[in-house]
Amino acid sequence: MKPQIGISEKHLSVSIEMLSIILADEMVLYVKTRKFHWNVSGESFMELHKLFQNQYTELEETIDLVAERIGKLGGKTIGTMHEFANLTRLKESPNKYPNQKDMMKELLEDYETLIVEIRKDIEACNEKNKDAGTVDFLTAIMEQHESTAWILRRYLN
Ligand SMILES: [Fe+2]
Repeated sequence: MKPQIGISEKHLSVSIEMLSIILADEMVLYVKTRKFHWNVSGESFMELHKLFQNQYTELEETIDLVAERIGKLGGKTIGTMHEFANLTRLKESPNKYPNQKDMMKELLEDYETLIVEIRKDIEACNEKNKDAGTVDFLTAIMEQHESTAWILRRYLN
């Protein structure tokens, strides 16, 4: 059954498409953060090992919320690595094992990319889609990413 929630079918499908891309981005960032958790080494090993664990745990929760919101708007949620890799706006770096500082730089860049993209998505969702629920939902995710970016930036200054 289609949700009858005061948003047209066309607008619902635009929101679903937008959320699917964000889901792909969050999945790619999640996998990258796990890779860094597994491979970080050096002086601050345990601190960064734990920091990355906290970050991917937070991403895991976000991923679940995004995936379920797609369902709430009447969409089917993608769930294959192939689709995530195709849809994401982030870049993966196969065969690369950066040092501690470069890991944090790469994560910071990804978080900042996501913040910029989600900010644009929020605007589009507000002006074109009239989907206040998704605007509110994405604003909270963007703010959470702003906090994580701030923490990463602190290590790099
Ligand atoms: Fe672990």
